[in-house]
Amino acid sequence: MTTRQRIYVAIAIITLIGLGNVLAQTQFKDQRSRAPRQHHNVALPTTAATQFGDPLADLTPTQLADFAAGLDEFQSVDTAESGLGPVFNNVSCVACHSDPAIGGGSVILETRFGRLANGHFDPLAELGGSLMQDFAIDPTAQEVVPAQANVVAKRKSTPLFGLGLIEAIPDSAILQNAQNPKPDGITGRPSIVQDVATGHTRIGRFGWKAQQATLLAFAGDAYLNEIGITSRLFPQENAPRGDLYMLELYDHVADPEDAVDPATGKADIDRFADFMRYLAPPPRASLTQSAIAGTAVFLQTGCENCHRALMQTSSSTIRALDRKLVPLFSDLLLHDMGSLGDGIAQGTAAPAEMKTAPLWGLRARTPLLHDGRAPTIDAAIRLHDGEAAKVRDRYTRLNSAQQQQLLDFLKSI
Ligand code: HEC
Ligand code: HEC
Repeated sequence: MTTRQRIYVAIAIITLIGLGNVLAQTQFKDQRSRAPRQHHNVALPTTAATQFGDPLADLTPTQLADFAAGLDEFQSVDTAESGLGPVFNNVSCVACHSDPAIGGGSVILETRFGRLANGHFDPLAELGGSLMQDFAIDPTAQEVVPAQANVVAKRKSTPLFGLGLIEAIPDSAILQNAQNPKPDGITGRPSIVQDVATGHTRIGRFGWKAQQATLLAFAGDAYLNEIGITSRLFPQENAPRGDLYMLELYDHVADPEDAVDPATGKADIDRFADFMRYLAPPPRASLTQSAIAGTAVFLQTGCENCHRALMQTSSSTIRALDRKLVPLFSDLLLHDMGSLGDGIAQGTAAPAEMKTAPLWGLRARTPLLHDGRAPTIDAAIRLHDGEAAKVRDRYTRLNSAQQQQLLDFLKSI
């Protein structure tokens, strides 16, 4: 397909999304105790149109039940008694993934640090880096940015809508994006990772640095690094400030803390992955005349060379993920973003490299960019640098009517 054809297909597809989907709304009730975590009750009433936070259309009753069980686990709360910490960033997944619906993002920022010397990035792992945990179950275990760090960066919590579709995009399609010739000096590299969930070498696609390839691996990573719960994939606790003595003092629950429930064959991380896999993509807003005109501006300005409108999943035994078009507006590649890069090396991503942020659902998240430095879409575009410098400059030269059309288009996807 040519770029233009892809955009037309994208618009057709995007318009279709939102029709005839099953709606699920979650209702908060009082916490009930289902040892060892604290759970919420979840209800899934059905209405006509898809909204943020709904399950995918086309799920079987079993898959819908797995979505509901995952949604429950996603909202459940850990305490020191259930293994929280010793260092952690929050007590549940939903704490950082709730806006504009459960499974969304939030304004919560995390801190990463490291030391750059002679062109080499050191994550200062022996001092608790590169991810700092903001809280500890005991004040003496509290992490801090160490004096040795000369790079400190913030990272914003991202929304999880449609991640099952992104997971189902084959590695080969992302590799193809890297091989396609692109104008304006744009290149783009796949993030090659060792997937802890399967043990295979895969193409990463989740996280600001495309640091994980599968939802199960990300779930295990987040359970350990955000909440402090060890699992079969990540069996080792984070030592507070890297100090093993501190770990010895405060790690009282036997690892791995998240064990497989023999009754269901699933651990909490499997439940989180179920929930995210079956979570529908962001619903499309209706296209105004201005937004339709903005589609052409988006193409002509060159945004689509990175924010690729459409990709496709491979064949899947899950009908809702089987050979589906995915209007994510990302090539899932790492790009050298120059001054916009966060300065942190992670996996194969260099300090200045960032994954093209998917733009679907953009209207439901502010502020923008990896550290939330952009209050508006316009500001986010103007902060593009490195490989995106030429496209950014072309945007700044558009007249204000064209810029408005582009922004209206971006708010509709
Ligand atoms: C303290 C806040 C916080 C908590 C708690 C948290 N997350 Fe996140 N989440 C983030 C941030 C920040 C990012 C972006 C991380 C990055 O790329 O470095 C993220 C990213 C993700 C992503 C990647 C999304 C994408 O599109 O690439 C997944 C998947 C995810 N989180 C799942 C979870 C799960 C599952 C849990 C619970 C076990 C959880 N998160 C708990 C803050 C949080
Ligand atoms: C060279 C590739 C490239 C090009 C070209 C490009 N972008 Fe981006 N874009 C990125 C990357 C990478 C990010 C994430 C950067 C970060 O946050 O550090 C991003 C982030 C964004 C964001 C913020 C998303 C969020 O979730 O915070 C918006 C909005 C955006 N781009 C719009 C555009 C528009 C509109 C154009 C065309 C004028 C464009 N981009 C051109 C690579 C590109």
